[in-house]
Amino acid sequence: MTSSPDADEMRGKVCLVTGASSGIGRATATALSEMGAVVVMVSRDEARGRAARAKVVSESGNQSAELMTADLSSPASVRGLAASFAARHPKLDLLVNDAAIFVNKRVVTPDHLELMFATNYLGAFLLTRLLVPNLEAASPSRVINVSAPSSMMPDLDDLQGERAFAPIRAFGVSKAAELLFTYALARRLQSKGVTVNAYHPGLVRTKLVRGAPVAVRAITGVLNVFMGVSARRASQGLVHLASSPEFEGTTGALVHDGKAMKARFADDVEAQDGLWRATCKLADLPEEV
Ligand SMILES: NC(=O)c1ccc[n+]([C@@H]2O[C@H](COP(=O)([O-])OP(=O)(O)OC[C@H]3O[C@@H](n4cnc5c(N)ncnc54)[C@H](OP(=O)(O)O)[C@@H]3O)[C@@H](O)[C@H]2O)c1
Repeated sequence: MTSSPDADEMRGKVCLVTGASSGIGRATATALSEMGAVVVMVSRDEARGRAARAKVVSESGNQSAELMTADLSSPASVRGLAASFAARHPKLDLLVNDAAIFVNKRVVTPDHLELMFATNYLGAFLLTRLLVPNLEAASPSRVINVSAPSSMMPDLDDLQGERAFAPIRAFGVSKAAELLFTYALARRLQSKGVTVNAYHPGLVRTKLVRGAPVAVRAITGVLNVFMGVSARRASQGLVHLASSPEFEGTTGALVHDGKAMKARFADDVEAQDGLWRATCKLADLPEEV
């Protein structure tokens, strides 16, 4: 196990990481395991999840990592995940909403949801809301949404892109929705000892854009050569935000490179609460946390 300034902060803490089968999620699971945390890794695919868990255990030397399978694009599957997690772990110290997908056309799930909206945003929203009691039980606890500084405001009258759809915009909207959710939830949990922040990893060499439009793949491929960092490197900033006493009181921030970034919707309470209400309706959740 490696040691860092934050190394002792996570020993024995229970962490749930979605998107843990690859990229930043798997690297984060490894880094947290190295610090002695109990990491519950979520994968949509059992075999990929088992392979990722084996890698995390062998790289970290920590056997305690657990695997749970769930499809974040399916609200029923997310509800099943939350119930299975809560049955095993009454307390949750850290929730990392990392899972995301980028596809090049409008894909509709069996629940009539647009796939990127459902996976990148709605699944994280629902999972987090269902686990608030576990987060409060572990207070002080932290939620981190792995996102990007998108400024593409969701259209509340067309959240599933039925009237107008462009893949790049839909992905950007899903990431902006995640930011709006971060700010809205941070306000609601402020007095409850649960901080909620978004983490922007920068440009990272992962498989995220493999199904994205050709132009995105080409541009990302070139930029990655010059500016891309490894998933391991990206996970270090995330784990610092998750564990460092420096961020103990930080909530409702978008953090990159250890510093809060300016983001378009940070002060737009009306936009945050508009999406909050629409999402609660969609996810069949009460507006009150
Ligand atoms: N890479 C970048 O430059 C960059 C920049 C800014 C933000 N981010 C954010 O970083 C996060 C991690 O992305 P990454 O770059 O590490 O890409 P990645 O390697 O493709 O990781 C995405 C993860 O999400 C999982 N996933 C996708 N659909 C899912 C579903 N329906 N249910 C459950 N899990 C699902 C994938 O599982 P499978 O293994 O089964 O596909 C994979 O483990 C994302 O939120 C992304 O938006 C990335």
